[in-house]
Amino acid sequence: MPIRILPNELIDQIAAGEVIERPASVIKELVENSLDSGAHRIEVDIERGGIGLMRVRDDGCGICAEELPVAICRHATSKIAALDDLAAITTLGFRGEALPSIGSVSRLRLISHPTHADRAAEIGVDGGTVTSVRPAAHPPGTTVEVRDLFFNIPARRKFVRSPPTETGHIARLLERLALSRPDVSFRLRSGERVLLDAPLPTREPAGEERLAQVLGKELVPSLIAVDHASGPVQLTGWISLPTASRAQPDQQYWFVNGRSVRDKLLASAARLGYRDVLYHGRHAAYVLHLSLDPQLVDVNAHPAKLEVRFRDGHQIHEFIFRAIERALAATRPEVGATPAASAQPVLAGAARLAGPAQAWSRPGPVSGVLPLSAPRVDVPSRDPWMLAQAVRENVPVSMPSGEETAQSSASVEERIGRDDGAAGYPPLGVPLAQLHGIYILAQSPEGLILVDMHAAHERVLYEKLKADRGAGPAASQLLLEPLVVTVKPHELDAALEDPVSWERAGFEIDSVGPTSLALRRIPALLANDRVTDIVKSVIEDLAREDGLHHLDAAADRFLGTLACRTAIHARRRLTLPEMDALLRQMEATDRANQCNHGRPTWTRLTLGELDQLFLRGR
Ligand SMILES: Nc1ncnc2c1ncn2[C@@H]1O[C@H](COP(=O)(O)OP(=O)(O)OP(=O)(O)O)[C@@H](O)[C@H]1O
Ligand SMILES: [Mg+2]
Repeated sequence: MPIRILPNELIDQIAAGEVIERPASVIKELVENSLDSGAHRIEVDIERGGIGLMRVRDDGCGICAEELPVAICRHATSKIAALDDLAAITTLGFRGEALPSIGSVSRLRLISHPTHADRAAEIGVDGGTVTSVRPAAHPPGTTVEVRDLFFNIPARRKFVRSPPTETGHIARLLERLALSRPDVSFRLRSGERVLLDAPLPTREPAGEERLAQVLGKELVPSLIAVDHASGPVQLTGWISLPTASRAQPDQQYWFVNGRSVRDKLLASAARLGYRDVLYHGRHAAYVLHLSLDPQLVDVNAHPAKLEVRFRDGHQIHEFIFRAIERALAATRPEVGATPAASAQPVLAGAARLAGPAQAWSRPGPVSGVLPLSAPRVDVPSRDPWMLAQAVRENVPVSMPSGEETAQSSASVEERIGRDDGAAGYPPLGVPLAQLHGIYILAQSPEGLILVDMHAAHERVLYEKLKADRGAGPAASQLLLEPLVVTVKPHELDAALEDPVSWERAGFEIDSVGPTSLALRRIPALLANDRVTDIVKSVIEDLAREDGLHHLDAAADRFLGTLACRTAIHARRRLTLPEMDALLRQMEATDRANQCNHGRPTWTRLTLGELDQLFLRGR
């Protein structure tokens, strides 16, 4: 075949292939145009998954009659005029491609009434051919109707799924758009059915009400607000408590300067922010808006504008990860704190008391919390390592057992040295007993506190390990016979990228083949354990984190595994001072409301809840 220039119509259809993949892509382009036009209200109607009809109506600035034929031309836009504009885009569209692309693969009708004109006009395009320009009746704003998508491209048509599937795509898309702009009202209808109704929020913060409209009210109590700024960059939005994690990453929304994006760098930064509090394979929910100087981000990086490129990706990654980590660090037991575990009602069937739990007046100084009759020698037990060791060897840390018995027979009021209610109680109360070697029961002014020993201790140890890091290389043990770990070639590369980190953690590693790694020295604390499994999962993480921050993450993952292995396990008998030490350590530990896997570490049964359980009036 000779080389030739393709006819315009074919050029348009090829170009449309990049932008218009399915009905939802059409809706995306049309709604983005509406948002760019300054609309406050956007209504979308579809029939048969958008294949029959898609109609988007807005109350924006409109297009004047003379410009209608231009709007549907390729490379025609009102949003940029020069190269410099491209570097600082504040609109969602800018390529001047959407309308001509849609018009070349469907039957399109564009009706518009510009705000300052007294009349409306319309234009029709049929598979790329203009069919009509004439006066029309329309309130101020614009309506675009698209029928018979891909009617002239049977090959494309075959890739369109069933109406319910396509409707689902459109609904998900509209949810994202609605989350991006709480200041605009959205409605989506499929035939007679309203699939999304998101009127203008009436309460502040508008973003939170919009979130409830779109994702459901149930989600809101398990969210933490994020608002963090640094120079020209700001992160705002909501992230889920680790205890509200999900099996799928299906509620993760990122917006960059109002544009919904799927971005690996952003997702990886968020994942890293949660690394201390989420179990592997669980996913956080979040709605996050990143705002930054448009000069710092290139939005012209993907045909459907679903991805962006940051000028300094590394800095953005660091900024986001720190912001999320900081927001999550605040989840430790405090005065009047709600236990993480109470996201679900503690007592099935028992009605929960309305109103805030009785606030307790003031925490006593931690050291004065448990005045013991015998001189206290349990100071070392405040070191989480001592606790771990004592428990492993099954010896009490500080108290002879006789005294312990005497201790438990004294009432809590006697033990804290007063009986005037809340004063003197620390946030997690005073330990009473251990239940089945799994839970610690403690008395607080509000009622009963239940602590999962292992989960709590794991968190305390982990935070301590992290704090201790940097104090020098970990104690290690040289192996006579190296342990060999089999990994994939790219994982091996990732593992060998930073030998110093491994050394600092107490490892000596080298490759002994394209897919084999030898461990010649391992941390003393991991000796005889499932060290190869741990190393393997650390390496998998390394390879997955896209080369960003993996040192930090891997080191922490490693410490997390270590903490889990070292923490007291179920069925270990603890003395009251040991229990007390653990509760006090929890109060002083960041993120202590959940273990490293995101499970809650404690919960509370109020006296009111207990009374209800026993049908006891007070
Ligand atoms: N709903 C609308 N309200 C007002 N003007 C509109 C509307 N839709 C389109 N326009 C006008 O038509 C022009 C062309 O729209 P089109 O979507 O093809 O390109 P664009 O939005 O500029 O760029 P992109 O291809 O990136 O979307 C826009 O620049 C805008 O001026
Ligand atoms: Mg557009």
